[in-house]
Amino acid sequence: MTLRSRFGKEMDDLAKGYTVSVPFDQRLYKQDIAGSIAHVRMLAKQGIISDKDAELIVMGLISIGEEIEQGRFEFKEELEDIHMNIEARLIEKIGDAGAKLHTARSRNDQVATDTRLFTKEAIAETVTRIKALQQVVLNQAEGNKSVVIPGYTHLQRAQPVLFAHHLLAYFEMFQRDVERFQQCFERADVLPLGSGALAGVPYPIDRDFVAKELGFSRVSANSLDAVSDRDFVIEYQAAASLTMMHLSRLAEEIVLWSTAEFGFIEIDDAFATGSSIMPQKKNADVAELARAKTGRVYGHLMAILTTMKALPLSYNRDLQEDKEGLFDSVDTILSTLEVFAAMMASVRVKAARFRQAAEESYTLATDIADYLVRKGIPLREAHAIVGRLVRYATETAKTLYDLDLGEYKRFCPGFENDVKSITVESSLAARSALGGTAPEQVEKALAAARRTLHGT
Ligand code: ARG
Repeated sequence: MTLRSRFGKEMDDLAKGYTVSVPFDQRLYKQDIAGSIAHVRMLAKQGIISDKDAELIVMGLISIGEEIEQGRFEFKEELEDIHMNIEARLIEKIGDAGAKLHTARSRNDQVATDTRLFTKEAIAETVTRIKALQQVVLNQAEGNKSVVIPGYTHLQRAQPVLFAHHLLAYFEMFQRDVERFQQCFERADVLPLGSGALAGVPYPIDRDFVAKELGFSRVSANSLDAVSDRDFVIEYQAAASLTMMHLSRLAEEIVLWSTAEFGFIEIDDAFATGSSIMPQKKNADVAELARAKTGRVYGHLMAILTTMKALPLSYNRDLQEDKEGLFDSVDTILSTLEVFAAMMASVRVKAARFRQAAEESYTLATDIADYLVRKGIPLREAHAIVGRLVRYATETAKTLYDLDLGEYKRFCPGFENDVKSITVESSLAARSALGGTAPEQVEKALAAARRTLHGT
C-alpha cells in the first residue's frame, strides 16, 4: 500500500527520508487505533459497511495494538506514517475488509483526532502532576509554619515574611497553571473526525456517536478549520511554558538558598550531585536542569507558532511538525514536575539561619518609618529620617536593635521607648490585610490551599 498509482516512478530516497513521520508519530498508535475502532463502529451502525466487516476490522485493530505493545510490529518507513502503517498491516491481516477502514475518512481528520486525543491525555497527566507538586509545596509550608525569612525585592533583603507565605506564592502560580491547562482541555476536547480531507464527507455518518465513543464533548463545526487547526497544541505549549517559567523561578531560589552564601536550606543528598574534582561540592543539579529545560519548552512554543504563521487553509504538510515539539514538551514538563516534587519534599529548612537573615540587615526599617507616621510625621519625612538612621547604623556597624533611644532621638525627637517593641513578629503581625504575611492571614491561606487541593 504505497498510494503511488498516480505516479510514474518511485519516490526519491531523500524525499522519502525527509517526509517520513513514523519514527515519531508511532507514539500515537493507541489514539490512532481507538479512533479507527470508533470510526468503524459508526460506519457499521450507519450501514456504510457491513457488521461483519466492522467486526473483522475491530478485531484486527485490537491485535495490531497488541503487536505494537509487545514489540512485534514492524514499522515501515516506506509507509510514511503511523496511520498508513496500521492500515497496511490491517489489510495484510484481514484482506478486503481492512481496505474499507478508511471509508469516509482522510488522514487529515484522522491525525487531527489522534493529536487531540493525545493532548487531552497529556493535559490530564500534567494537571495531576502540578497538583502533586502543589501538595508538596503546601506540606513544606505547613511543616515550617513559624519560619521567618527575609522577603526580597531586587534580591535585596526587604521585609520579613513567613516562609509559608513565600511558598504559597508558588501555590498560587501553580493553581493558575492548573486552570490554564483545564481551559486548554476544553478547547482540545472537540472531535475533528468526520471532516474528511477538508470539505466534509459524502456519507451519512454519525459524528456525535464517534465523539461519544472517543470521549469528546463536542464535534467540530467547520471541516476546514477542523483539519488545519492546531491552536490546541499552541495552547498546550503556552501553558507548559508558563508552568516551566514558574518552576524555573522556584528552581532558581532552591539553587540560591542552598548555597553557602544564603545557607537557608539543605537539599537531601539523594537529590544532589557531586563534582568530578572538588570533593566538597554538593550541587543542586535537579533544580538547575529544571531551570534550564524551561528553555526547550519555550523553543517548542516558538517553533509551533512559527510553523502555523501564515499557513493557508486547510491541511498542509507543515502541520506534521506539530508533533515532535509537543511530545518533547510533554515529556519535559512531566519529568520535571515529578522529580521537582520529590526534590522539594526532601528539602530541609534551616530556620535559625533564615531568621538571622530576616533580623539583620535592617528589614524592619519600613516598620520604623510606619511607626513615625503613626506619631504624626508625614510618610516622606519619616522615610528620610529612617534612611539617615540606617546609614548611621551601617557606618557604626550596628543593627537597629543595637541602637539606644538616645541614638534614635538624634534623628527624630518623636522616637519613644516603644520603638524598641518593633520586632520581626510585630512586623509580620501588622501585615494583616487580606493577602499579607500576618500569621493569621497565612493560616487562612493555608486552609484555602487545602480546600483547593482537596475540596474540604
Ligand atoms: N503524517 C501526517 C501529519 O502528521 C499525517 C497526515 C498526512 N496527510 C496528508 N495529506 N499527507 O500531518
